[in-house]
Amino acid sequence: MSDPSLEPASPGHISVLYNEFLANSRLGGRLLDGTLGLAGHTIGWLKQNPQGRACGIDQDEAMLAQARRRLEQEGLTQRAETCHGSFEDPCCTGSFDTILLDLGISSLHIDSLERGISYREDSLLDMRLDTSSGEPAWEWLKKATEKDIREILWKYGEEKFAPRIAAGIVRRAAATEKLRTTDIVEICEQAVPAKIRYEGKTHSARNPAVKTFQALRIVTNRELEKLEKALVHLPQILTTGGSLIIISFHSLEDRMVKQSFLGRSRIKDESPFARSNFLHGDYELVTPKAIMPTQDEIEQNPRSRSARMRILRKVRS
Ligand SMILES: C[S@@+](CC[C@H](N)C(=O)[O-])C[C@H]1O[C@@H](n2cnc3c(N)ncnc32)[C@H](O)[C@@H]1O
Repeated sequence: MSDPSLEPASPGHISVLYNEFLANSRLGGRLLDGTLGLAGHTIGWLKQNPQGRACGIDQDEAMLAQARRRLEQEGLTQRAETCHGSFEDPCCTGSFDTILLDLGISSLHIDSLERGISYREDSLLDMRLDTSSGEPAWEWLKKATEKDIREILWKYGEEKFAPRIAAGIVRRAAATEKLRTTDIVEICEQAVPAKIRYEGKTHSARNPAVKTFQALRIVTNRELEKLEKALVHLPQILTTGGSLIIISFHSLEDRMVKQSFLGRSRIKDESPFARSNFLHGDYELVTPKAIMPTQDEIEQNPRSRSARMRILRKVRS
């Protein structure tokens, strides 16, 4: 029998830090996959755990439909519940032995023209993962002030040229009914000095719109707000011995996960007789250092290069 942990869920789809997830997830019991995507991690886990049951959540209905199709092809639907929602308020109840968040977007989102997430294609600047609620990025930008835009570019994109880009967006939004991805790309190209773009310094050789697109996507989908709530709620619904495994792709998310996990696993000992400053809490930090993809994985899947996996285990209830 082949080892399922060495095979991607389906041809062409590569789940990031797949083997590391399977090696660190708890055997058997229940898995909550808060970011089901194409169900790569969940399918691997269900195959590795013939008695296990999974609940998969995605805020994108189209992605959920694809995941259901894949689970069906693998004959796993009997053991996999799926529902549309956001991970900070899971639509499946009870406690879980393993909880996974593989944050961000899927490569399908980047390729999808309707979502306006990619700076490589011309489309309406929507950017929502859940198209059934919330407002598209172009609509938010139409109402936002230059100061609002500048602040989100700084905060969520760490964009050095935020003032120029924000001014450009406000001008363009006033002159256009609905902003398109190409409007933002043009504004960023004009705002970031050519010297910096072509010398590949601070902005590296990457497209000058990368950071702006990241910031707009984060604000449109309220990504950090949802993660902050999830970091409070999800540890509470772990079974004793269960693990919360989070894979993040940018420093803002990784910093939040790191600080939250550290805070939960080390409780300050206020006693005057304390031998050390910290008492262990109800949780243990499994990864004092984040797990990163191997060079082989990065070569096979360049998107994985910025991935960081952190794990928190519940040791007492
Ligand atoms: C990187 S993909 C997950 C890939 C998946 N682990 C796999 O192996 O196929 C992230 C998925 O999470 C979903 N997502 C992002 N934020 C979410 C949230 N707050 N709640 C639920 N799903 C979310 C996205 O729509 C996307 O499908």
